[in-house]
Amino acid sequence: MKVAIGADHGGFEVKQKLVDYLKAKDFEVVDEGTVSSESVDYPDFAAKVCEDVLHGRADCGVLICGTGIGISIAANRYKGIRAALLYSLETAALARQHNNANVAVFGGRTMGLEEIKERLDVFLNTDFEGGRHLRRIEKIDMCGRCD
Ligand code: RB5
Repeated sequence: MKVAIGADHGGFEVKQKLVDYLKAKDFEVVDEGTVSSESVDYPDFAAKVCEDVLHGRADCGVLICGTGIGISIAANRYKGIRAALLYSLETAALARQHNNANVAVFGGRTMGLEEIKERLDVFLNTDFEGGRHLRRIEKIDMCGRCD
């Protein structure tokens, strides 16, 4: 499985650790930056990862900013992207089961590395349940306000 990952300066350190973590688990990783702790703009990294997912260059994405909020807002502007801020193990599972989330989001300044890794494991190993949840996620892209 190929995972695209990106972060701003608030998520840079966590991103570096997650790149190593994912590679050690034999995931193919597309590292879209940022490349240092120098201040950058989170929408630029949301764009790179979302485009990788939407164009099939990655199966799913991981995004990190300071809180995870700004980069979630930016990512969810892309039609077809369902970015979920994973604030517990339960929401990591439900984001996949019910929302078919294709981007996992974390807060580099608000979450601990170990809990992020655990949530990411759950996210990557949980399947979408389909059924009534498929109808609901299809309505998100049919809303006519997303184009
Ligand atoms: C950058 O200082 C910070 O605003 C950003 O990482 C993020 O938390 C925005 O939502």
